[in-house]
Amino acid sequence: MMSHSVSYTKEDAIGIITVTNPPVNALSQHVRQGLSERFAEADKDNTIATVLICAGRTFIAGADITEFGKPLQPPNFLDTMEIIENLSKPVVAAIHGTALGGGLETALCCHYRVALPSARVGLPEVALGLLPGGGGTQRLPRLIGPEAALEVITSGSPMQAGQAHRLGVIDEVVTEGDLLDGAKAFARKLVADGAALKKVRDLSDKVTGVDLAIFDAARKQASKTRRGFEAPQRCIDCVEAACTLPFDAGLAKEQELFRQVLTSQQSAAQRHIFFAERAAAKVSDMPKDTPTRAIQKVGIIGAGTMGGGIAMNFVNVGIPVTILETGQEFLDKGLAVVRANYERSAKRGRFTLEQVEERMGLITPALDYAALGEVDLVVEAVFENMEVKKEVFARLDTATKPECILATNTSTLNVDEIASVTARPGQVIGTHFFSPANVMRLLEIVRGDKTSFETLATTQAVGKAIQKIGVVVGVCDGFVGNRMLHKYSAQAQYLLEEGSLPQDVDGAVYDLGLAMGPFAMGDLAGLDVGWRIRQGKGLPDSLPTGERYCAIPDRICELGRYGQKTGAGYYTYAPGDRTPRPDPVIEELIVNYAKEKGMTRRLVSREEIVERLMYALVNEGAKILEEGIAQRASDIDVIYVYGYGFPAYLGGPMFYADSVGLKAVYERVCAFAEHDPSSWQPAPLLKKLAEEGGTFH
Ligand code: 3HC
Ligand code: NAI
Repeated sequence: MMSHSVSYTKEDAIGIITVTNPPVNALSQHVRQGLSERFAEADKDNTIATVLICAGRTFIAGADITEFGKPLQPPNFLDTMEIIENLSKPVVAAIHGTALGGGLETALCCHYRVALPSARVGLPEVALGLLPGGGGTQRLPRLIGPEAALEVITSGSPMQAGQAHRLGVIDEVVTEGDLLDGAKAFARKLVADGAALKKVRDLSDKVTGVDLAIFDAARKQASKTRRGFEAPQRCIDCVEAACTLPFDAGLAKEQELFRQVLTSQQSAAQRHIFFAERAAAKVSDMPKDTPTRAIQKVGIIGAGTMGGGIAMNFVNVGIPVTILETGQEFLDKGLAVVRANYERSAKRGRFTLEQVEERMGLITPALDYAALGEVDLVVEAVFENMEVKKEVFARLDTATKPECILATNTSTLNVDEIASVTARPGQVIGTHFFSPANVMRLLEIVRGDKTSFETLATTQAVGKAIQKIGVVVGVCDGFVGNRMLHKYSAQAQYLLEEGSLPQDVDGAVYDLGLAMGPFAMGDLAGLDVGWRIRQGKGLPDSLPTGERYCAIPDRICELGRYGQKTGAGYYTYAPGDRTPRPDPVIEELIVNYAKEKGMTRRLVSREEIVERLMYALVNEGAKILEEGIAQRASDIDVIYVYGYGFPAYLGGPMFYADSVGLKAVYERVCAFAEHDPSSWQPAPLLKKLAEEGGTFH
């Protein structure tokens, strides 16, 4: 059947091939087929040149990711690209939007490339656990040299048209008029000049005589910055092949490694995260056409750790903020931290000192609620105390205009209770940022009982505008992320009583791929925070009868060891060094504590450590799903990957459980529950899925 997603027309003796495959013109089977057919037609037609252009919002944004994981239907990428590259007259790619992955690879088969200044090009395959498998690893080094190509391919980050032009990826930036007109004019000039049909595959100067040491250096670097990820290593292998092998042999190597990564579990997990991230933006019961309000000015209450970081997010995208505090000294201190953060970034060359001033200039400090009369959104980040929060919300309710949205950054408190002190509970919502708030990409958007669709949709849009990955969750203690983390941390502590040391537990999950283990994380966040909360509730006895309680963290705090900030916690730290060093004092404390409790310590295997910690997350995740606190299992995965340093190549805890097999997971959870019924109650959903042979996804 003929493909209709690619059309062929003729204007002024130039053939124009247009791809129309919304939303992003992915290279689906019918597009590959259409391109093959139309280019064959263009070759025969009596035109002087051919332009490849796309309709809609973007140039081809890559292969069709939904086709991966299934047998690929012909024609394959390389056959289509060969037809384009071998055309007997000049082919010009006209790029707007994003030419990514297979899209850029298609453009690299064209003899020349022009682009709008707003266009971006790149090879982001590595983010999907893949490598560019349409000749990109062989052509790009030939065009821009192996070092620049390594950077583009292993980072996966797209670049602006201007930079692409400077590197030589783009031949001309069309700054005036329409893209198609610019491309046609460029093609006409090529013909008039008698320009050669530039086939990137035939270029060799940049890949000859390359010092191969750059590849070992790149491998070493990637093993640090992308620890545990296979795809960056394979990308480097391919670029090296471009410098050591003739084009066709290099291409064969690329294809072999592409097939290897395409069928890997890591890529399946990373593709899962790609779609999970997009699914997270969808709220099942919210009408698609829900209106959103414009957010032009924002108020932040509290200039502490979170308030300052949250303010930076808005200022970074040009939204002015007013920060309110209880005293001038707190404002001064908070703003000094923000300034220091910006200055550090400026020192690293991320922006200029002038831009630091511009950003600081967007922040207005305030001590009086009257300063909040014009804001469209307030994010409250004061102390985690219900009475304080209620007082703040009552005051906000009268100080702000009636349509203003009131958001709380609480990490544990009930959003509905906070909303109840206002006359606008429909406009109250939770925006749970993660520390450091200017860095971490996750935003849990906490939907209260009365939160309106308009408030929800607006908050999602704001999250997107400040480049966060928003996940909508329901109200419960700790919401999704911290509620699950609580179970995980508890298991980590029980393991100390039973026989492990902090370094054993941290080492096991670090090796699995997590950014750091629970004890190193505790030391980083500060152990005193939780201790004070527990003291407030009244610490249980050292030998409690009911629910299992481990007092090791309390004992550590009693020694004045609060973590990195005091130079010691579960570990010790040399001044100015964040490397955790195991401490015999802590080992003794743990051993004595277990003895006191009458427990006989045993050798705990690494496998058990991983199972106890991971399945604690999974079992609680299953309960969260059943209760409807999270809409879908993949939302939980997004939360863990973007908020808790869970490796994307494992796909998040729920995907991880699916890949282990829920029957096996459930059996282990039941075994743990048998030994320790006070901390393990198998989730009914886990049981049901295990019995049915189902999966969370
Ligand atoms: N294949 C299939 N679907 C895709 C897709 C792709 N390559 N890229 C995006 N989509 C879908 C999304 O899932 C989403 O679907 P939904 O509306 O049902 O949720 C829809 O298109 C719109 O996507 P976004 O919400 O991401 O739209 P944005 O405008 O925010 O971003 C974009 C557009 C920058 C193109 C972004 O979608 C993107 O980065 N896409 C992936 C690009 C990519 O990774 N390309 C490489 C693919 S692998 C490859 O090419 C292999 C080759 O080397 C052989
Ligand atoms: P913080 O103690 O660093 O800052 C709180 C700030 O609020 C202080 O500067 C204080 O002066 C100010 N403040 C107190 N009462 C006020 C009032 N009535 N009006 C105006 N300002 C007032 O606390 P942090 O860590 O920034 O936490 C703030 C909120 O964010 C809490 O609800 C916390 O649970 C939550 N949170 C904290 C995270 C963290 O890692 N620190 C992570 C996610 C959420």
